[in-house]
Order: sequence, then structure tokens, then C-alpha cells
Amino acid sequence: MDSAAVAEPPRYRERSRDADTFSSREDVVTQAGHLPCWGAVTSHGNDHDRRPEATTVSQNPGPSSDATSEVLHTLGTAVPSTVPTRWYNLNADFPEPMPPALNPATDEPVTADDLAPLFAEELIAQEVSTQRYIDIPQAIREVYALWRPSPLVRARRLERELGTKAKIYYKYEGVSPTGSHKPNTAVAQAFYNKAQGISKLTTETGAGQWGASLAFACALFDMVAEVWQVRASYDAKPYRRYQMEVYGSSCHPSPSDLTASGRELLDRMPDTTGSLGMAISEAVEVAAGDPSAHYALGSVLNHVMIHQSVIGEELLEQLAAAGEEQADIVFACAGGGSNLAGITFPLIGQNLREGTTTRFMACEPEAAPSITKGEYRYDFGDVAGLTPKLMMYTLGTDFVPPAIHAGGLRYHGMSPMVSHAVHLGLMGATAIDQDTSFRAGVLLARSEGIIPAPESTHAIAGALDYVTTSARPDEVVVIGVSGNGVLDLPAYEGRV
Ligand SMILES: Cc1ncc(COP(=O)(O)O)c(C=O)c1O
Repeated sequence: MDSAAVAEPPRYRERSRDADTFSSREDVVTQAGHLPCWGAVTSHGNDHDRRPEATTVSQNPGPSSDATSEVLHTLGTAVPSTVPTRWYNLNADFPEPMPPALNPATDEPVTADDLAPLFAEELIAQEVSTQRYIDIPQAIREVYALWRPSPLVRARRLERELGTKAKIYYKYEGVSPTGSHKPNTAVAQAFYNKAQGISKLTTETGAGQWGASLAFACALFDMVAEVWQVRASYDAKPYRRYQMEVYGSSCHPSPSDLTASGRELLDRMPDTTGSLGMAISEAVEVAAGDPSAHYALGSVLNHVMIHQSVIGEELLEQLAAAGEEQADIVFACAGGGSNLAGITFPLIGQNLREGTTTRFMACEPEAAPSITKGEYRYDFGDVAGLTPKLMMYTLGTDFVPPAIHAGGLRYHGMSPMVSHAVHLGLMGATAIDQDTSFRAGVLLARSEGIIPAPESTHAIAGALDYVTTSARPDEVVVIGVSGNGVLDLPAYEGRV
């Protein structure tokens, strides 16, 4: 394929290839003991036996008791070969290593000890891994087999509706038990934490897709989730809270008076609609104070991007089976970056290793345009400053996004891996307003039957803009549809 012949879509912000912030590959190897993640939390004190000594990634994490062993044991069911056997890690193929996360107190890279109070050993190992492929434990594959591989569909009715000769495919993650891509990492995180004897996971959630997915995964591994949901979504979208409760977990509005950081935020901003950054602070605080609990993040961190790679790994196989040489361009919505990373990173790796020329577009909301309007710099992942400083595109932790329907996209920052990919020029980005994205969602519903999640409508709108303005005949356009909007239907009211 001649990449020069492919016009860059309009409105996409170009990122320069600026290498000055990076150290050598050798530095990253020596940083293996320094973990680019949570660093400034208070340890609950009696967790020393859970601290990782090494950062190897093993297939079998070694259950800690008979009861644990039972829920982690494989069922022995036949898992189709189309369910991925390995996760892909773009950290093996980046032309330049990622800048490490920093301990805000010292401005030194954070260490494994900093992370151990909050994360399972295997997840910490994955966080810093530069191994290209990581085997997926069979017990996780058995759960994935409930809905994976997710369908790749040629959107012929949408093509007809648009009158385009481009070939539009969508990869649909809405078929998971909770309706989005989030279980791809929730199941892995619950599994590795259970293997370490953890019984509770705390987390934040926006629209509730992540909270419900973690509750689902915890139920399968005999654990519970305690979830802080951004107040705007908690009030507007009770159904996913009910879902969490059905799975045996609990959900609070954030900010709440249950945590010091929540109380402080409520004092300062009694009427705040909340944000993901605030909810992260509350969930981190609770996990740090409870020895039986760990924290789980539904996006942003490297290990989450790795787990989501099942989407792109499947896409490569499915495109080949459909007789396509490659995807020409892939669109996905971007909140913290995980579904975008999941569908694009295996293809970016293929570009880097094999010379394919697929292009990638992050579609973010105009209401929280971290890539297109933010700065690339070190910033906290949360509002209270409990996390390490992450090198990422950010609007600043004080930024409280307007209460748009796409609650899962209301985040001030962006995954450091996605940010690095953008910064290196491996991916472009565009920002889309809410009305345009819902119009695209309605068009998909009326032509293909799927009512997309409000977050996913941004990817569809980005793709439709491209197809109707720039796509060549026969160009292969792939849309990541990260979830269904069945529990978000009130958001569609007045748009139909
Ligand atoms: C359906 C759906 N898509 C996308 C997102 C955005 O998250 P990420 O950018 O990590 O994929 C969310 C977040 O909750 C979501 O629920």
C-alpha cells in the first residue's frame, strides 16, 4: 500500500515526533525495579509478604489457599482456538521507551514497593514488562470464551446508507456480559488479585460500565468490588449501579463523605458533578487503608492496555479471514485510552515490525479533549494527587469536564502508552461534539441495529466524517464500537 496516497483526515491534530524527553532503551531495562505507577499512597502496613521481589510474568500465579485455588482452577471446558492465547504489549515495539512515572516527593521513578499496597504482583510485573507477548492463563480464557472473539462485522447497510465505496467494518465489544470492553481487563485483574488472597477491589467508574464489569469479574472469582461512581452518572444512570449490586458489589456517589479526599472535595465544591479523577482518589484511599483490599483501575495503566489487546489480536485474524490485506484506518473513542489501545496497539506493532501502513485515530469528546487540547507533561492521574506523576496528555487535574452523557470519557488525562504513541506520531486524534456523536450513533442503530454506548458514538462519528469526506473506494475503515448503549437509552431521548 502506498501510504503517501492516503490523505490525512481533516481536523486531526498532528503530533510532532519529539524524542527529547526519552532516555535510552537501556534506561528502561534498568528501571525494571521502578514501576511507572501509583507511588504516593500510604501503605496499610502489613502487606510486606505481598510485595513483589521480581517483575517476571508467570502463567500460573500460585493460589494462596484451597478456597482460592478452587475459584481460580480451570473448569476444563474446551476454549475455541479463536479466543486469544496471549496479550500483546506495545512496550516491546515502541521505537523509543516510555518516560517513567515519577514519585512526586522525589521526582524519581516510582518503585515496586510503592505499588505493592495497591496492585497484585503479576499486574505490577505486567505494568513494567517489555515482553512482546504475555500468555493468558487458561482460567481467564475460559471466562473470555463466554463472549470472545467479539464480532467483526462488515457494515454493508451503513455503507449503503452513506453511499460510500469504502469498506466499513466494526468490531463490537458490546456483546460482553456487561456490554462493553471493560471485562477484558476486569477478569484479568480480579484473577490475579484473587491469586494473591485479596478479597475486595475498590475502583472508580464513570457511566458505570467499568464498575459493573469489575463487579461481574469479582463475582466470578468470589470477591466483591466497592465502587465510587462519578456523581453526574450516579444520579443520571442508576441501572449499572443495580447491575453492580446484583453481582454482590456496592456503589457510592463520588465525591462521598466516606473518604478524607471526598470530604475535602465536598467542602471545596459542594455542588460538584464529580469526575473520574475525584473518584480515583477515593477508591485509592480506601484500598490503601485496607489490607484485604487492592485497587483496580479500568483504564490508563499499562497493564490495562495490555489486557485490552485481545481486541486488536482478534481483529488481525478476522480481517485476514475476511480477505483484507490490512485495515487502512482504525477509529476508536478515547477516555482513558483502553479500548483505543486494545484495538490499535497490535496493529501499531504490526506497522512497526512488518511495514503495514494502518493509520489510527483517537476520537475524544470536545468536552474533555485531553489529546487535542491538553499538554504533554507530567501530571497526577487523580484530583487529590495520590498517584505518581504520569507523562501524558492532560488538561490538568483541576479540569472538571461538563456532565456529558459519555461519562466514561470525562477524564482529564490520557493513558501514558496512548500518549506516547501519539507523541511519537504513531496515532492521530480528533475531538467530536456530543450532538455530532449522537447523530452518528442513531445512524448506526438505524442501519446496523446496534445502539452504541454514548462513548462509542465518538468513534462512529470520527469514522463517518472520514468516510464522507476523504475515504477512497475500497479503503478498509474499522470502527471500534466499545459498548452497547442499552442502559444509556435516556441519553438518546430527544435525539431520535
Ligand atoms: C463503552 C465505553 N467505551 C469507552 C470508554 C472509555 O474508556 P477507555 O478510553 O479506557 O476505553 C468507556 C469508559 O467507561 C466505556 O464505558
